[in-house]
Amino acid sequence: MKLLKEKVMNEGIVLGEQVLKVDSFLNHQMDPMLMSEIGSEFVRRFAGEEITKILTIESSGIAPAIMTALELRVPMIFARKNKSLTLREDIFVEKVYSFTKRETNEITVSKKFLGANDRVLIIDDFLANGEAAFGLARIAEQAGASVVGIGIVIEKSFQPGAKLLQEAGYRVDSLVRIASLDNGTVTFVE
Ligand code: G4P
Ligand code: NA
Ligand code: NA
Repeated sequence: MKLLKEKVMNEGIVLGEQVLKVDSFLNHQMDPMLMSEIGSEFVRRFAGEEITKILTIESSGIAPAIMTALELRVPMIFARKNKSLTLREDIFVEKVYSFTKRETNEITVSKKFLGANDRVLIIDDFLANGEAAFGLARIAEQAGASVVGIGIVIEKSFQPGAKLLQEAGYRVDSLVRIASLDNGTVTFVE
């Protein structure tokens, strides 16, 4: 995606060799025109999959997920990270470990919103180690739903998430793939 690549090149800030800060359009201030194009691009890439629900995780996955859901005219669900007050038997729960933050979060989705007839597209802003995406996929599978694929805005291809998800049989489609952040520079795959 040319516009997204330009945004990453012009506005992304490389922090160390692992982290790309994109606060000006994705993680803090958000660019709605860009998000709209991102939604259209995911719809194009997953055309024909008969998607019934978009599934993401709060907070930064919500914007690309809602734009995709809007275009498909299907609901979007975001997994919550906080402990909700709901009874445990009413929710799907999975543990997600973050290597970046060195903490485990429980993520939850109400059983009301996912079922065995759903065809789920998972969307997230970043793919690093794949823990969040795996957790979301396990939640969909707890519901008996099918995971049609995983759409990622920015994949850090030098981290293992994409490969692990593909080895597990998931289709991963990333709009921008970063080969390296070495020497303070963003190098794209290809
Ligand atoms: P993983 O799910 O792929 O294993 O990733 P990881 O645990 O490392 O990610 C933890 C958090 O850090 C996630 O956000 C993820 O989106 C974010 N993240 C990972 N790598 C980068 C990066 O290079 N740049 C930026 N800006 N974020 C990164 P989160 O804690 O779920 O927070 P939120 O932003 O969605 O609220
Ligand atoms: Na994030
Ligand atoms: Na995220």
